[in-house]
Amino acid sequence: MKVFAHRGLSSIAPENTMAAFERAIVINVDGIETDVQLSRDGKIVICHDEKVDRTTNGRGYIKDFSWEELQAFDAGSWFSPEFAKARIPGLEDLLNLVRKTDLCLNIELKTDKFFYPQIEEKVLELLEKYDFVDRVRISSFNYESLLKVKAILPQIETAAIMKDPNLVSNFWDQISDLTVKAIHPSYQYVTTELIDEARKRGLEVNAWTPNQPEEIRHLLKIGTHGVITDFPDRAQCIVGA
Ligand code: G3P
Ligand code: MG
Repeated sequence: MKVFAHRGLSSIAPENTMAAFERAIVINVDGIETDVQLSRDGKIVICHDEKVDRTTNGRGYIKDFSWEELQAFDAGSWFSPEFAKARIPGLEDLLNLVRKTDLCLNIELKTDKFFYPQIEEKVLELLEKYDFVDRVRISSFNYESLLKVKAILPQIETAAIMKDPNLVSNFWDQISDLTVKAIHPSYQYVTTELIDEARKRGLEVNAWTPNQPEEIRHLLKIGTHGVITDFPDRAQCIVGA
């Protein structure tokens, strides 16, 4: 089972900052999951939320700030004073860091709330520039975004993030034309039946965000391909045990 660090090593350092990514590299995870949005001036910005409020000392939507304005915010103190110097990274910062390793990246396009003009093109342009196309998987809750990615660059791997199956009855139909490599369900929805069905369709199952040892152990036992967790160190111990 592969171990992905969710938003970097986000249990130890502020999520989606260089500090969190560096720590994930130190413990040698298989991959890093991260989330991207678009600034007002068209820069690919790493942040989980559409707003900066929760994870910085700023207030407002990323889409309303320029890259330079975003750099003024402290993205670490909310987590701990020792990270007061942390800034919101750009995707290029992460690519520059990870290019020195052999890690994989799971880049989640946060396109389910706002329409970010050409975010798919811009992300793929950077991945080509940094020669990352063969070690990245693009995921999203927005399947239109995944279709767009495949239309631009058919060889890139994509993953459909699964919405709550209690609200969506036709999940397999919804993803049938996407040519995804994997599905990414919340760990609560992962069952042996789901894994069997995915396997039949040639798809991997990567579960987010199991953090408790018993959850991770259960996912390993039932044959989950990967976990995307805030505690990759725990998952590594379980996988290696
Ligand atoms: O990509 C898996 C997971 O990160 C999706 O949910 O809200 O943590 O981005 P979220
Ligand atoms: Mg995510």
